[in-house]
Amino acid sequence: MSYLDRVRIFHPPIAHVPPPLARWFCPAGPPSLAGFEHAGVRVIAVPGRYCVSYLIPGPEGTALVDVGSCEDIVRIESVLAWLAGPPLCLVIPSHLHFDHCLGLDPAARHFGATVRLHPLAHEAVARGHALRAPRLRTLGVFFPTWLWQGLPCFAAEDLRAGLRFGFPWSRNPFQAKLGEPLRDGERLAGFPGWQVLHTPGHADDAVCLYHPQAGFLVAGDTVRNFQGGEWNPLLTDPDDYRRTRERLAPLGVQAIFPGHGPVLTGPRLFECLRPVC
Ligand SMILES: [Fe+2]
Repeated sequence: MSYLDRVRIFHPPIAHVPPPLARWFCPAGPPSLAGFEHAGVRVIAVPGRYCVSYLIPGPEGTALVDVGSCEDIVRIESVLAWLAGPPLCLVIPSHLHFDHCLGLDPAARHFGATVRLHPLAHEAVARGHALRAPRLRTLGVFFPTWLWQGLPCFAAEDLRAGLRFGFPWSRNPFQAKLGEPLRDGERLAGFPGWQVLHTPGHADDAVCLYHPQAGFLVAGDTVRNFQGGEWNPLLTDPDDYRRTRERLAPLGVQAIFPGHGPVLTGPRLFECLRPVC
């Protein structure tokens, strides 16, 4: 049985029209609104305005990773209603970059969920200081990716909310309830089999969620898929990122859920990722 045979893919009947520019220009194409299931574990990809959000249903609650825009909350709510599963109880940003977190605090408050952050992000929020930003010399690689996403402009709701999260100068003023910081290697309570991995490099506060039995990795920007699956060239700390790649490469993974682009499925995924140029 191949890896693709082992992962069941399903499509919630919820409208999603990808931006035309992403369809025309992104080499990997736009992400789809789709669910992936193996070994009783499900992850649902919900494409948003600036990134892809992921829903992870557990036995008693549902987790949500990343909410790029306030505008994304309506679609996430539609998918939750279709799932008819347990309520959303936990919201985790893969890292605090604006395209992953402008809608995160409003989403957590809307659903009554707790936010849990990487310890560095938690400390930065508590002390009111900014996190390190990606290095200026790597910022050039950011601009083509915005075209590959369809050149999204800021949503009116995000502008009204003040764009206060995820920029190099942001103090990330969460109003939602903050839970304990996410420890490296922590088993995620309420979500059997899921564990937290600290994966610095693209961002100091990057986390992935890994389910070894299912072979699922929710990767944030640690892996992206604009060009068929690639390591991220936009880096805050190249040495940390090398160590992160070395740590992830031996993991048994048959589906990678990237922060941008379609979900990657198949064998030897890490071997197939484009290297950092
Ligand atoms: Fe990022």
